[in-house]
Amino acid sequence: MPQMNAERDIVVAMTGASGAAYGLRLMERLSQAGIHQHVLLSEAARIVLKQEMGLELPDSPEQTTSALAEYLDISADRLTGYGLKDWFSPTASGSAGIRQMVVVPCSMGSLARIATGASDNLIERAADVMLKESRRLILVPRETPLSSIHLEHMLKLSRLGVHIIPAMPGFYHRPKDITELIDFIADRIMDHLEVENGEVKRWGA
Ligand SMILES: Cc1cc2nc3c(=O)[nH]c(=O)nc-3n(C[C@H](O)[C@H](O)[C@H](O)COP(=O)(O)O)c2cc1C
Repeated sequence: MPQMNAERDIVVAMTGASGAAYGLRLMERLSQAGIHQHVLLSEAARIVLKQEMGLELPDSPEQTTSALAEYLDISADRLTGYGLKDWFSPTASGSAGIRQMVVVPCSMGSLARIATGASDNLIERAADVMLKESRRLILVPRETPLSSIHLEHMLKLSRLGVHIIPAMPGFYHRPKDITELIDFIADRIMDHLEVENGEVKRWGA
């Protein structure tokens, strides 16, 4: 297992919204930037990964991160996985000191539970830790259309300082393929994480 570096490590959670490719691309990019990630997957995220990416993951967190690393062709050392009830994970406590978390993609269900502090699984708890410790929490919601319930939760979280980065890629850079649309969102997340990202195309550059 890699050495934990709380200042630099990032929690990357995937939930059961459409857009699993965004989460995978972010993991790949962060690995390339040398960032160690604490990986959390909801049950629904596993279903979506299979549906959208054809990626069927094993049950155990260790085997899951190995399978993800193999799929992404990155070093398995960059990822540490935990089960959804692993309350001994460093992601479950503010005292571990991890500074940043991204939920990508973020389902409306997880968004609602984070907005209400449910903390019933490790994803919700880790997000709650970021909120209570005033650390950086980034949510990448995906749903359309949005109900007033969804919008109210997003507004509440935004007012708490959460970065809401909807999975809404722009088209002004004239994307040639889906990869460029996925990268559009991954780039915005990398910027908000303040991780060096040489690949990004910048407006006006
Ligand atoms: C293929 C697939 C796509 C889905 N897409 C979305 C979506 O885009 N947004 C959303 O909020 N829920 C979506 N759902 C429903 C969520 O997976 C469901 O509400 C689930 O309970 C969310 O659980 P979680 O937040 O623990 O991951 C989708 C489900 C499946 C199977």
